[in-house]
Amino acid sequence: MNLLLFIPFIVFFVGCSSGVTQEQYIENMQLDNNISYSEIINTRGIYITSMCYTKTKDEVTGKISNPCYSCHTKGKIPNYYNDTNLQEEYNFPPKLMKNPFSNLFKDRSLQVAKISDDNILKYIRKSNYLDENNSIILDKVLPKSWKGYRPDCYFNFDKFGFDRDLNDNYTLWRAFRYYPFLGTFWPTNGSSDDVLIRLPKIFSKNDNGVFDIETYKINLSIVEALIKQKNITLESEVDEKKYGVDLNQNGILDGSDIINISLADKISYVGKARDALKSKTIHLALGLFPEGTEFLHSVRYIDYNSKSGLTGMAKRMKELRYAKKISWSSYSDIQRAANSELFEAQINGAEQGVMATFRGNYEEGLKNEIGWVYQGFIEDKRGDLRPQTHEETIGCMGCHSHLGATTDSIFAFARKFEGVDINDINYGWNHWSQKGLVGVKEPEVKYKNFTKTYEYSFYLKNNHSGNEFRDNDEVKDKFFDKEGAVKADMIKALHDDISILLLPSKQRAVMLDKGYRVMVKEQSYIYGRDANIKPMKNLFKELNTGDKTEVNVIVRQ
Ligand code: HEC
Ligand code: HEC
Repeated sequence: MNLLLFIPFIVFFVGCSSGVTQEQYIENMQLDNNISYSEIINTRGIYITSMCYTKTKDEVTGKISNPCYSCHTKGKIPNYYNDTNLQEEYNFPPKLMKNPFSNLFKDRSLQVAKISDDNILKYIRKSNYLDENNSIILDKVLPKSWKGYRPDCYFNFDKFGFDRDLNDNYTLWRAFRYYPFLGTFWPTNGSSDDVLIRLPKIFSKNDNGVFDIETYKINLSIVEALIKQKNITLESEVDEKKYGVDLNQNGILDGSDIINISLADKISYVGKARDALKSKTIHLALGLFPEGTEFLHSVRYIDYNSKSGLTGMAKRMKELRYAKKISWSSYSDIQRAANSELFEAQINGAEQGVMATFRGNYEEGLKNEIGWVYQGFIEDKRGDLRPQTHEETIGCMGCHSHLGATTDSIFAFARKFEGVDINDINYGWNHWSQKGLVGVKEPEVKYKNFTKTYEYSFYLKNNHSGNEFRDNDEVKDKFFDKEGAVKADMIKALHDDISILLLPSKQRAVMLDKGYRVMVKEQSYIYGRDANIKPMKNLFKELNTGDKTEVNVIVRQ
């Protein structure tokens, strides 16, 4: 054989698992999907969200809506960001005074009309994450030299929400249930989703360095107590003597069923992680995750189950999103980031904001200022998952770095359910596919200058709609009367069961799925990822310096 012919052949097999080199893999993606992994095509500013462009005064009803307070609020220390005043004025950086999310103004009705219900249901019911043998497709097709996150969760959960691989081993990913964040993240507004957490391996090793799932469970509960800054009940009573840590902080080593955080300097992780904490290779602080913590978030189409009559998670993923805390930031590091020039400009009086920038790349993810990297995969035009481009990844960074609403830049964990009995409707450690939203009571919150109130009802009353864009007619008809006032009986029912608000009907689910499918074919994510079919009316296309909203500011207490 001619040697020259032979060389590429070797490279071909050695280079990677999927048979192409990394360069070739990326090049193929670019050509197939008409995207660029490195270039910025729309604007560097898509870290700002489409919701920021919402008109707060309704042109038809004249009512004032505030969808802004869910994100722009006062952070709880050590989240030193307080971006409450962004509720009041559209003072974007100059380049963003023109709304970059042009997809919001597209009419996709014609394309949507061509997709039959059967077709879309067939599409969303086929997994693009696991193949027929339950192997992870991305793990196979990503080049061997891929330095970023290589998906390793099987979405195969035991009754405690632990993910198990094909040999039934723990992957250490653990699913949890949480109150979905206000607005866009409710299934009725477009997608179903789930969130999983994983702590580094050392958190699963007992004092002898042996894998022990109980040790891991206790450490997860300790992290939950730290993040929520409150005492957390354990899943079962723990013999503190075994771990040498006074979990309930009663001064003796006895049996404990809680993690008590009232004496913050006395808290410790258990097992090998306790040694690592002592030697300062890992850290512990209220409101912060230990370094090495990972989160996985699958964003999916909405399926319909004819047996239960309910809508819920589809097999097909729209996106797989990932985050990892790669370095520790102390309270003062975070405070410094929050007081940086960029943020000062946004918050204190500068006429217009300054554009944020984020270091990193599409492969290893983009970094926020407090030690986390974010990265994701999204459907290519055929519906297979591909890495998100640099520009698409910029889209992650605003929500996961600058908002008062997050805890260590993470949303869902602070909103985790706290039930510890697997038979409890509020059991916290399950995947949504195991226990859904039906029958879950509405959470309560406290806003400044308001009495304690129900979180979702309050949103409906102050936003006059079930989403930011006020184009969710199903929620409108269900929860509001002709004059636009909330229906008292529906609000009462909502207190007892959040699913009546959060889950769409079958018709709505199928329609939203179709709208999104059209966008997938366009691969136009950098112009906005909302699944709208009709052009949105309640959004500004362009704003002028000094333009104000009309809302009454609402701040979390
Ligand atoms: C889903 C969360 C979310 C909602 C809801 C939301 N925003 Fe934003 N907003 C963001 C994110 C993320 C950014 C970019 C990061 C940052 O600057 O905090 C941003 C940035 C902004 C900025 C620019 C700040 C700067 O200087 O860069 C303004 C102004 C703003 N939002 C106003 C609003 C208004 C007004 C509303 C309600 C009509 C609103 N936002 C609703 C998430 C949201
Ligand atoms: C509009 C704001 C917004 C944007 C943009 C966004 N996220 Fe999130 N993210 C959220 C919210 C809210 C949740 C919690 C989900 C829920 O409540 O349903 C979340 C959850 C997550 C989680 C699970 C941990 C957590 O924070 O709860 C990860 C990981 C994540 N997102 C990664 C990403 C990545 C990667 C991107 C970009 C591809 C991205 N996110 C874009 C708002 C956002």
